Amino acid sequence: MPLLTTPALAPGTLAGRPQPDLDAGDLLLRPWRPDDRPAVLAAYADPAIRRWHCRAMTGDEARDWLDSWPGRWRQETGAGWAITDGTAVLGQISLRAVDLPEAQAEVSYWVLPDARGRRVATRALSALTAFAFDRVGLHRVWLRHSTANPASCRVAERAGLAAEGTNRGAARHLDGWHDMHVHARLRTDT
Ligand SMILES: CC(C)(COP(=O)(O)OP(=O)(O)OC[C@H]1O[C@@H](n2cnc3c(N)ncnc32)[C@H](O)[C@@H]1OP(=O)(O)O)[C@@H](O)C(=O)NCCC(=O)NCCS
Repeated sequence: MPLLTTPALAPGTLAGRPQPDLDAGDLLLRPWRPDDRPAVLAAYADPAIRRWHCRAMTGDEARDWLDSWPGRWRQETGAGWAITDGTAVLGQISLRAVDLPEAQAEVSYWVLPDARGRRVATRALSALTAFAFDRVGLHRVWLRHSTANPASCRVAERAGLAAEGTNRGAARHLDGWHDMHVHARLRTDT
């Protein structure tokens, strides 16, 4: 059955160029490097990151996770950045579920415990949405978080991703099904 719509963005929109660094004031978002493994391991040792991302990580898995990002960029399925202060890794932010024909992507983020409370996540999310709209041409950037995670809700709102509603019982966590709050920003939002 032929699609009656044309793809909003063509193949090669991401892969046709190298993954760039993103400037976020005194933060620098840069592609992951193999020597970032200790920071990733430290992240997945943190109870809050384990809780909300429902994942643990061994050294080998951290290496594989870091190695996976260039391929995801080439396949245009995802893009991950280390959030840094220019030197140290403070967190991660990434585009997931990249859908170029529909010009949208999901965002995921975490910040290491010592770097929290300084708007690191908010500033990184603002820089990433600006990149997604202005340089990639996405139409919609969205995320969802458990309704039991108010810090993530604040990050989304402060970065201009408006709350759209709640998906009931939509994600399984270690303690069972959680209601998930959906946020999104459109390129046309002011
Ligand atoms: C959520 C997370 C990314 C926030 O990172 P951060 O850099 O500390 O976030 P920011 O400093 O940009 O903003 C945090 C906001 O949440 C608020 N906040 C923090 N803890 C909170 C809590 N328990 N309840 C309500 N608000 C809270 C802060 O006051 C701040 O709001 P403000 O800007 O209005 O003052 C970080 O806490 C984290 O990595 N948590 C574990 C993993 C996670 O939750 N990932 C997201 C999954 S959807």
